[in-house]
Amino acid sequence: MPNISANLAGIKSPNPFWLASAPPTNSGYQIMKAFDAGWGGAVWKTLGVPVINVSSRYGALNYKGNKMIGFNNIELITDRPLADNLREIEEVKKYFPDHAVIASLMVNTREEWHQIVKDAQNAGADGLELNFGCPHGMCERGMGSAVGQNPIALETITRWVMEVAKVPVIVKLTPNITDITEPAKAARRAGADAISLINTIQSIVGIDLDNLVPYPVVGNQSTNGGYCGPAVKPIALNMVKNCALDENVRLPISGIGGIETWRDAVEHLLLGASNVQVCTAAMHYGFGIVREMIAGLEDFMRQKNFETLNDFIGLSLPKVKHWEDLNLNHKVVATIDSSKCIGCQLCYTACEDGAHQAISVSVDKGVRVPQIIEDNCVGCNLCSLVCPVDNCITMERRDDITAPAETWADYAAKDKAPTTFNDQRGGGVGHWNPTPKEAWDKRKNNR
Ligand SMILES: Cc1cc2nc3c(=O)[nH]c(=O)nc-3n(C[C@H](O)[C@H](O)[C@H](O)COP(=O)(O)O)c2cc1C
Ligand code: SF4
Ligand code: SF4
Repeated sequence: MPNISANLAGIKSPNPFWLASAPPTNSGYQIMKAFDAGWGGAVWKTLGVPVINVSSRYGALNYKGNKMIGFNNIELITDRPLADNLREIEEVKKYFPDHAVIASLMVNTREEWHQIVKDAQNAGADGLELNFGCPHGMCERGMGSAVGQNPIALETITRWVMEVAKVPVIVKLTPNITDITEPAKAARRAGADAISLINTIQSIVGIDLDNLVPYPVVGNQSTNGGYCGPAVKPIALNMVKNCALDENVRLPISGIGGIETWRDAVEHLLLGASNVQVCTAAMHYGFGIVREMIAGLEDFMRQKNFETLNDFIGLSLPKVKHWEDLNLNHKVVATIDSSKCIGCQLCYTACEDGAHQAISVSVDKGVRVPQIIEDNCVGCNLCSLVCPVDNCITMERRDDITAPAETWADYAAKDKAPTTFNDQRGGGVGHWNPTPKEAWDKRKNNR
């Protein structure tokens, strides 16, 4: 049986699945239910001076029948008095001493930071997460992402916290910044024990076209909110990778953003996260999703012969290179399995209009089966991505697999890289392009 217990900067939990600071961690009642369902830890809804929220608060991006592939909110931190939250943290820790309870914090002055850190520690929190990420409302008051976007302010405030912290301190980063490693490095300089990312992405999720007000509608107005859910996972993964690879960050990472299944969680771990946090998926489907996450993770580890999480945390990092280090000789082309093809023509249209005119169509026994024109196929993957039938279009290697790899730098050193505008060594030279006139002729024929 694989051991899925996790350790983030000394904060231990029975598994790597934590609830992120958000409505599912608003109260001790919810966190007790979540731990009972199987979650290994929870980051309490951010504590501070209680707020007054607006109504309504959430918006969603639905896509072709799939609800909430992206989720947007304009709510603030906790609206409950600090004393109530602290009492419940203490109570939860009594029932679940081995689970991780993290206090998320956001206040203003040095005195307030000192006070709330001491209060959270006295209540028994296993760690502190500093919310420097909220991109709506709180940032207008100089907190949240206003701090996360300013490495000097982030470093100063983290130092204030470190002056009194006795438990591990996690700095939660905002993705609303050009280079996520800058605030991560500031957290490191200030002595933080870990970072967590990402918080939500500043966004407008859509507009009500009847009354022309963006969502979520508050009366006849709205405001920009924070975007999260499955749609943000690629952004989160890239930022986790950037922090994990940066020599000047070198802090344990709690990965957040778009995690809904065990696969999403494993991807975060493979790119360097020591554990993960989940918000939108728990709001969408409830606490029970953790059971599939645990079972899936254990299965994955069994299949790969991983005994502990450390056996695979960061294992994909060495496979992420700069573009200039990729092998320019690697060549794949699309191949269509005609026995699986349903003749929908999506691949033809995509390649014809959106790629390289490398697919032709002929009629075979009444079915229009496309064919790949190999000489024109650049191996971009587009047709295989749009094809609705699994494994109908696969990408197959065509280069000499015994030949050594050659990068851009190798090409330049061997004088194989183009250097002038009309250089005949460009990759598209020799590639057949229909003439503009052929488009005109097709247009006339189609009328
Ligand atoms: C409604 C809502 C409220 C949130 N409140 C907080 C908060 O109080 N503190 C915080 O650090 N993050 C907050 N977040 C951000 C989440 O903790 C998390 O970083 C983000 O949603 C990305 O994870 P996900 O894709 O799993 O939702 C909130 C998110 C949502 C959707
Ligand atoms: S891989 Fe790209 S270029 Fe090749 S056939 Fe498919 S869409 Fe066209
Ligand atoms: S997209 Fe796939 S199923 Fe549709 S025509 Fe192309 S190969 Fe066939």
